[in-house]
Amino acid sequence: MSQTSITPGLPGAEERAERGPVLRKGIGPPQSGWFDPRGRAIGTWAFSVNRITGLGLVFYLYLHLGVLSMLLAGESMWNDFLKLATTVVFLLLDVLLLFGILFHGLNGVRVALVGTGIVPQRQRALFWAGTVIGTLLLVAGAIHILGRAEMATVAPTRPRPTKRRPVPGGKSVRAWWWTVITGAALLLLLVVHMIAHHFVVEEVGGLRTYQQVLEYIGNPVIFTIECFFLVTVTTHALLGLRSVLYDMGFGARGKRRIDVGLWVLGLATVAYGFFLVGTLASRA
Ligand code: HEM
Ligand code: HEM
Repeated sequence: MSQTSITPGLPGAEERAERGPVLRKGIGPPQSGWFDPRGRAIGTWAFSVNRITGLGLVFYLYLHLGVLSMLLAGESMWNDFLKLATTVVFLLLDVLLLFGILFHGLNGVRVALVGTGIVPQRQRALFWAGTVIGTLLLVAGAIHILGRAEMATVAPTRPRPTKRRPVPGGKSVRAWWWTVITGAALLLLLVVHMIAHHFVVEEVGGLRTYQQVLEYIGNPVIFTIECFFLVTVTTHALLGLRSVLYDMGFGARGKRRIDVGLWVLGLATVAYGFFLVGTLASRA
């Protein structure tokens, strides 16, 4: 493929020229694994932070569904939660969440642009562009979120596998494309979601009251978008989790079990999410 500058004849040259997950340069990951990128190139750092933020977001998704279940218990339960959620400590955690979303989302765009071959050779430039855009958005978001509390102040390449594998992370090219497609959709859906729940209403932290949540989700267009968001984020999150689990070196049987487990978890998550928003919409 013409867009790469890989010297033909070198081991792995053909695979590297394929579109898809981006193979890293270098001599291989440290023994301690992807979570210890010390002494490695910036792309490896980006990969590690991308993975940590991705896993953090999966954790947040389930925490979030748990917290949202309080809405089922009615207005006074939600008000109690809002009191806690609008304290400075919790608003700071929201800023941390915003950092995770911005890093993961912008790095995801970079990975996708390089891996699909749209911008194959500018990953460093893309990394720094993402850093500048992300920092600006984070500062603006943090000022907005914390300002409501009336406070005065307040990339890619991947580890080169030691054993040669067809694609890094043990993930198939098809799964990678689905991760990219759902990631691209999330870029829009998550931005809409964050703005709707943090930057529209006037309350502290921008958080919606019980009635405002019901009104919001009672709108059929919003309802449809939120359902689509639920399916997309669950698919992306569990594909991501699959890639991290596959990296642990399970055999074929282990991988089949992982797939079955993730399908069950995914279907249960979507079913519960539909029940949750369906119940709330019926109260609107
Ligand atoms: C903001 C929009 C998002 C975009 C553009 C995006 C994009 C991506 C891309 C392109 C990858 C593949 C990275 C690679 O192959 O190196 C990825 C991986 C991943 N994503 Fe996202 N993502 C987004 C949001 C999310 C959310 C909301 C979650 C969790 C609920 C999540 C969880 C994960 C996980 C766990 C991985 C696997 C990381 C790995 O294999 O190292 N992502 N994402
Ligand atoms: C701190 C920022 C956030 C706030 C204040 C917030 C608030 C809410 C609220 C009030 C709802 C219920 C009404 C609705 O369906 O729109 C909701 C639903 C939802 N949120 Fe968030 N959200 C935040 C961040 C996130 C993030 C980062 C994700 C993805 C990892 C996410 C994923 C979802 C999903 C999938 C639903 C639909 C649940 C369902 O269908 O049952 N939210 N959010």
